[in-house]
Amino acid sequence: MKPAEILHVPPSGKRGVRCDGTHRNSGDNVMVDIKLIQGDCLEKMQDIPDGSIDLTVTSPPYDNLRTYNGNNELWGEHVWKAVIKDLYRVTNSGGVVVWIVADATINGSETGTSFKQALWAMECGFRLHDTMIWNKENCSSVGSMNRYENTFEYMFVFSKSAPSRGEIIKDRRNKRAGEIQNGSIRQKDGTVRKTTGYGKRAIAEFGRRRNVWNIFPAKKKADRLHPAPFPPELAADHILSWSNEGDTVLDPFMGSGTTGVACVNTNRNFIGIELDQGYFDIACKRIEEAQRQVRAGSYRKE
Ligand SMILES: C[S@@+](CC[C@H](N)C(=O)[O-])C[C@H]1O[C@@H](n2cnc3c(N)ncnc32)[C@H](O)[C@@H]1O
Repeated sequence: MKPAEILHVPPSGKRGVRCDGTHRNSGDNVMVDIKLIQGDCLEKMQDIPDGSIDLTVTSPPYDNLRTYNGNNELWGEHVWKAVIKDLYRVTNSGGVVVWIVADATINGSETGTSFKQALWAMECGFRLHDTMIWNKENCSSVGSMNRYENTFEYMFVFSKSAPSRGEIIKDRRNKRAGEIQNGSIRQKDGTVRKTTGYGKRAIAEFGRRRNVWNIFPAKKKADRLHPAPFPPELAADHILSWSNEGDTVLDPFMGSGTTGVACVNTNRNFIGIELDQGYFDIACKRIEEAQRQVRAGSYRKE
């Protein structure tokens, strides 16, 4: 079992655990600080300085949908309100919080907690930069037969002023790539105007990805050691979209550490907090393994 507090996992050299809270390791041209903390994020986030986080990629417990070894009994509005408020404090200007969430259905009605959380984030000062959808494509068909099968979760992108880091992913192949632009844009008054490149510029091979992401839930056994893990690609693509190399990424509900693994693979610093000791141990192991693979040069984007 790993020590429960602050654990640094340097990206190169022996697994020398430094607990001084300041260690940086620049071996293999990688400057990555990994800080994994076991405990309640409400309490542990207080040690994070104001404006020191560039990006948060997280998913909190979804109402009562999972028990998390019993800790979900402590979950509720009083917790998420305080966590979102503190996320605003620790996020720097131009920083982003990606909050991935879905609602339970109780007595036949969806709770709407996801919307309440988004509106609360705005009350705390965040902009609602985008409401994105994670389409899981192959959901298990649970729930009552009088509604359509649920297949998606919300990915709220909150930002503190306009996002200033990362790069929007352009991987949607344009059907008309190479042709000269001839599109038009409808104006507020209903009239249409030609696009800027009309008749001049060629259509690029790839355009911006749309804000509905079709990503299957985690498939590999090693990525499914938790009841509700992110697929690795989901965390990695948000990290690339909203942060730069060397930035600091937080996951206050780290679970099995998927956001941390993606940080190792994309060269970001990471702070992860997890309440449950069992999930915390899994996260430590997965992140160490990711670092081993990066050092061995065997990491491949899939
Ligand atoms: C939806 S899961 C996150 C899964 C994670 N994204 C992954 O890929 O494994 C939410 C996690 O939050 C943890 N949790 C619940 N309350 C917490 C708290 N107050 N502080 C820290 N972690 C908490 C739960 O134990 C659970 O592992």
